[in-house]
Formats: sequence, C-alpha cells, structure tokens
Amino acid sequence: MANLLLRHVYKIYHGVGKAKKNAKGEAKKRSGDFVAVKDFNMEINDGEFIVFVGPSGCGKSTTLRMIAGLEEISGGELYIDGRLVNDVDAKDRDIAMVFQSYALYPHLSAYDNIAFGLKMRKIPVPKVDKDGKEVIAIDEKKIAKIEKDLKKLYKQRDALVKDVARCEEKDLAYYTEKQALNERHIADTEKDLEYYKSTPVQLYDYVHMTKKEIDEKVNWAAEILGIEELLDSKPSEMSGGQRQRIALGRAMVRGPKVFLLDEPLSNLDAKLRTAMRAEIVKLHNQLKTTFIYVTHDQIEAMTMGTRIVVMKLGVIQQIDTPTNLFDYPENKFVAGFIGTPQMNFFDVDIKRVGDKLNVKFVDGQTVDFALSELRTIEAKYLDGKVHSVCLGVRGENIKIGNSGIQAELTIKEVLGNTTQLFVRLTEKGNDIIVSVPERNDLIPGDKVHIEFAPKFIHLFDKETELSIMSREYGNK
Ligand SMILES: Nc1ncnc2c1ncn2[C@@H]1O[C@H](COP(=O)(O)OP(=O)(O)OP(=O)(O)O)[C@@H](O)[C@H]1O
Ligand SMILES: [Mg+2]
Repeated sequence: MANLLLRHVYKIYHGVGKAKKNAKGEAKKRSGDFVAVKDFNMEINDGEFIVFVGPSGCGKSTTLRMIAGLEEISGGELYIDGRLVNDVDAKDRDIAMVFQSYALYPHLSAYDNIAFGLKMRKIPVPKVDKDGKEVIAIDEKKIAKIEKDLKKLYKQRDALVKDVARCEEKDLAYYTEKQALNERHIADTEKDLEYYKSTPVQLYDYVHMTKKEIDEKVNWAAEILGIEELLDSKPSEMSGGQRQRIALGRAMVRGPKVFLLDEPLSNLDAKLRTAMRAEIVKLHNQLKTTFIYVTHDQIEAMTMGTRIVVMKLGVIQQIDTPTNLFDYPENKFVAGFIGTPQMNFFDVDIKRVGDKLNVKFVDGQTVDFALSELRTIEAKYLDGKVHSVCLGVRGENIKIGNSGIQAELTIKEVLGNTTQLFVRLTEKGNDIIVSVPERNDLIPGDKVHIEFAPKFIHLFDKETELSIMSREYGNK
C-alpha cells in the first residue's frame, strides 16, 4: 500500500526531434529534444485505482515506466510514501508491473513463472543471538550501502557542475533543476547516514524464502485468480486470458506497494477483455493496493478507474472521476474522447438576449435556450454581444421532435437497444449522431427536427477549447 506524488514530472528524449530533410529530400539524422511527458502533477492516494487514458503516443507508458523506475525522470520529483525515489532502483521501489506482452518464461510452468521472482528474492528476518534475543546494534552493512549511494551522488554532483558550465542556454534550466534535485538527494542521504551511524537498530538476515512459503504464496494467488488447474501447464498451452492471469499472479505474489498495469488486456478478444476487466477490478477490491492502469480504451477507463487521468501529447487534460469526466469535460478534447458515440460539436454564435441564450448555427438557423436551464456560463460570454464558440451535445441528449432545428436524415443504424440516426443541418454539413432508445419509421432523406436537452449542453471557447461553463446551473 502506498501513496504517490508526482510533482512537475517531465520526460524528455534527447536527439529524437522530427527528421529534417536535406536539399535532395533525403532524411537527415534526427535532432532536437522530444518532450514525451510535460509537467505531470498528481497525488495518488493509498488504495486508489487510477487509469491513465489517451490516444497512442500521449505518454501513458512513459509516465508508468518512470514510476516503475524503468525510465529516468528528466525533471520533477516522484515520491512514494513521502520518500523521493527519482534515483531509487526499480527493484528497490516495491512496485510490480504487468505488461501487454505477458513476458512469461516459455520453458517454465505456470507455477514456476509465478514463483520465479520469489525464488530469486531474499527477505529480511530479524537477526537473533544465541539466546534467541533480537540483535540491536549499529548496522554496518546499511552504512556501507548508504556510503556507496552517497559516493554515486557526489559523482553526479561533479558531473552536473560540468554540464551546467558547458551546456547551451536552452538546456540550462533543465540542468539546474537536476542539480537542485541532486542536492536534495545528497541532503536526505547524508541525514540517513548520520542516523544509522549514531543509532543502533534491529539487524536483519536476508534469506531465501522456503519452499513452503513460496508454495503458500503461489497457491494464494492461484486461488484468487482461479488458475489452480493451470499451475503445471506451460504458457504455450494456455489461452491469452490464462497467460495474463499468470502474469498477474507473478505480480501479486511479490506483495508490491503499487501495481502498474500497461494495457494488460489488449491482446485479448472483446469478450475475454470484458471478463478480465471485471476480474482486475475485483482483484483490486481484494488486495486494496494502489493500482495504476494504462489503456487507450475509454470504456476500460470509465469502468475500472476510481479516478481517470486523460492525457494528450504528453499533457494532462483532466483528472477526475469517470462520471465527472463524462458530465463536466473541462475541454473539447476530453468531451470528444470520453463517451460513445462521440459528442457532436457545432461552431455557433451565441448571444444573450434577456434571460435566453440565442444560438445561431452556421446555416443561419437559430434556437433559444432559457439560461436558467443551462449550466452557468462565464459572465464575459453573456454581455449581450455575439461570441463564436463551440457547442457540444451527446447523441443521447438530442431527440427527434416536432420543432427545433431542421435537419435531414442521412443514415439510420438499428443497433437493437438503441437506434443511431445520422442527420445533417446542411447538405455539406457534418453528420450529427442522434441516439434514440426507440425504433422508428424514419428513412434516409426524411426531413426531421432535432432538439437538444439544454441541461446537457456544453460550450467551449473556440480558441482555447476550454469549457466556458461551470458545474452548476443558474445563470445570473
Ligand atoms: N525511447 C524513446 N525514445 C524516443 N522517443 C520515445 C521513446 N519512448 C517513447 N517515445 C515517444 O514518447 C511518446 C510517448 O510514448 P508512450 O509510449 O509513453 O505513449 P503511450 O501513450 O503509451 O502510447 P501507446 O498507447 O501507443 O502505448 C511517443 O511519441 C513516443 O514515440
Ligand atoms: Mg503505451
């Protein structure tokens, strides 16, 4: 169990900018820096199920790998349980990671795959003297380890002094930030050294787990995951879902403080994915450990996360609960990313007229909404002047009515539980998806009227694409 704090975390890949072309059109060597994760700030509480979601390449895996210690943090700070761990080795972070490719040993049985890490690992047991009394003394081994770490940090400090002296101006901020971090590390480590040199502590022996202890752990995980019958099988004899369970088991037996899962279900077919999705949520409820789960599937994110981080191009767009993301997207990207079918967007002109908001669509049609029925709009857009904004509304919040905006039906899709109607305001306009629960006799080419439920209307600034509405109702 653990809480995590990410403060101004950056990941910069050096020398990977866009390949430039020379006069002959041949690609030259790549140059420049690429910011894969930009100023990531978040506090994750003990026991939360956090989901990172966003399109391919938005920096989800990179962030996860930085937390795991598999990727160096270029800037910022990562704390686990209040301790700065930027420079702590992956193996010392007490974190288990499960990947999309299960990374199982093909020649080992399921049992041995799960037990592998346990066999390699030594666990601490309190040291006792010949009378069976626990030994409390100055821990020389610990002191030697801290001194070694400190030597490494001093070396890093010297190297950074040189980096700062000869780096280009644009990199100066980056190196001075690293310097500050290095100094904090040194201060923390020196404090630790002082403590251990002056304070007798309980000494530990590090021993391998016994066969029985390993057996108990493997059986515990196998029982929770329902894979007892598979323990003698080799990965090649198992289905994707079974292999994924073995990979989960291997992470579980380590008893990590944090579980990191990077698209663990993307190799499974749709049905199995849904089943495993529920199992992972159940597993989280049982273990009550902090989970961070990466996916680019918004349905997976919505159904699994207690909080979701939506990312785009290395930047956090919104951190919120699933329902808040759906109901109150803070920008147009989140609005479009969360929810199926995608939210419909319209470029409109809005103008306040008394207690109404007049909305004018590109084809000239206008509709009035009572301001009291809309979520509160930022005052500057309600000054009685015309403002060009983007209006968003989900398909299920539009209905086919007798009055309202005129449109033409272009396609009708009967999905069984709902019917999707694609309509257009103008011949050249975009298709708008209207999702209705009932079936109907409409056919493509029919002229229809559409009405938006005012309660569920979203408005975004055209330039910044940020929402201009608050979560409450009641415009003044
Ligand atoms: N080792 C690397 N060197 C250079 N660039 C990298 C490296 N690893 C990742 N990147 C770049 O960093 C960006 C973020 O990558 P990342 O793997 O975190 O994306 P992701 O959100 O996990 O995407 P996906 O959904 O495809 O897994 C991408 O543009 C990627 O090309
Ligand atoms: Mg990834």
